[in-house]
Amino acid sequence: MNAPVSLEPLGDPWATPLDRVNVSDARLFRDDIWYDWFARLRRDDPVHYTAESEFGPYWSVTRYKDIMHVETRPEVFSSASGITLLTQPDEYRTPMFIAMDPPKHDVQRNVVSPIVAPENLARMAGTIRQRAATILDGLPRNETFDWVERVSIELTTQMLATLFDYPFERRRDLTYWSNVAVTNFNDPDSLVKNDDERLDELRKMATAMMPLWNERVNAPPRPDLISMLAHGESTRHMDPMEFMGTCILLIVGGNDTTRNAISGGLWALHNFPDEYSKLRDNPGLIPGMVPEIIRWQTPIGYMRRTALSDYELGGKTIRAGDKVAMWYISGNRDPDAIPEPNRFIVDRPRPRQHLSFGFGIHRCVGNRLAELQLTILWEEILKRFPVIEVVEKPKRTYSAFVHGITAMMVRIPA
Ligand code: HEM
Repeated sequence: MNAPVSLEPLGDPWATPLDRVNVSDARLFRDDIWYDWFARLRRDDPVHYTAESEFGPYWSVTRYKDIMHVETRPEVFSSASGITLLTQPDEYRTPMFIAMDPPKHDVQRNVVSPIVAPENLARMAGTIRQRAATILDGLPRNETFDWVERVSIELTTQMLATLFDYPFERRRDLTYWSNVAVTNFNDPDSLVKNDDERLDELRKMATAMMPLWNERVNAPPRPDLISMLAHGESTRHMDPMEFMGTCILLIVGGNDTTRNAISGGLWALHNFPDEYSKLRDNPGLIPGMVPEIIRWQTPIGYMRRTALSDYELGGKTIRAGDKVAMWYISGNRDPDAIPEPNRFIVDRPRPRQHLSFGFGIHRCVGNRLAELQLTILWEEILKRFPVIEVVEKPKRTYSAFVHGITAMMVRIPA
């Protein structure tokens, strides 16, 4: 069971006894103070056991190479018991292929992966550019406004409406359901307070999606996600919970992640003004900067696996049934894998060598689409605005899983 969050003071990351180190504490991310906690674990206890946390006991894998090791052994480290540290009672679990193992995972993944086939991406690029341009042209000058609300959420929500071919004027429904799906009950601002409330809201999502399914299941196949699921051999007979779970996966997958990469990129450039000028002088650097933004932000802090058998890793014995968190946010700052990991470098050599999209059989389906959105957005930004000033520190998500920015006030000089 998941216990209420403890509000003990966090202490000094370098002096806290190792057996008290719990990097799943959402305050580390809300207050943006996680860096040294993970540096400590990478140095002193890279495969680390936390006996007590709000999520119960769990292991943390914090070095790049160990994360790759776990990612590439799905026969030992299973996704089927859930991908976040929260243990959901069975009656609330909505099946989705990110939380399945082969062979079912592979079959369902293959149904939706054509959405990001090169011809579909090429088709979407024009729409993304036109929508990005409209959003940017509508921004105020010489006035403080919230970048997250006006740009990051708006662009990703418009994109989701396109992927689902969901009624455009109701697109904010999708943002709302995505927020509900990932909300942390312990966050004072959480949208729902318990599993029952969450399930009620998500049922409303399934109810709204059903007519779209019914309309498309008997029509010729189209290149949107609902039509693909309705026509997929392995997905067309999904039960209602499975349909709900798959919709949540596709909504959350394409929403919070890209949204937070859009906000995180601007925050990174603000903190590295020399890199910002380098970019302004040479917009040709954008395609290489985009994966660096995704590494820098690491929009998903970790993914969880569950050991199916006892396994030795880094001199520790992980027991069958133990939860294991692969901390991408830590692997992406591991100096043994990424030179000068705490610097944001717009022309970093080998920028795609990061863990933000995971690795192995679950590697993000939408990675090229996310890169495409960010690339087009930055191209359109640089065409219009020589500089966007961030006027105060961003407000951050209270979560160890979604590494996000909830508000970021900016100003565009006239
Ligand atoms: C899986 C991150 C954008 C759809 C994942 C995983 C991560 C991730 C970490 C799990 C990888 C693993 O367990 O090894 C991100 C980031 C994004 C992004 C950082 C943006 C910067 C998207 C988009 C879509 C999407 C735009 C929508 C099409 C999915 C799906 C999966 C997934 C469907 C499940 C794949 C599977 O289990 O086989 N993503 N994602 N993601 N992502 Fe993304």
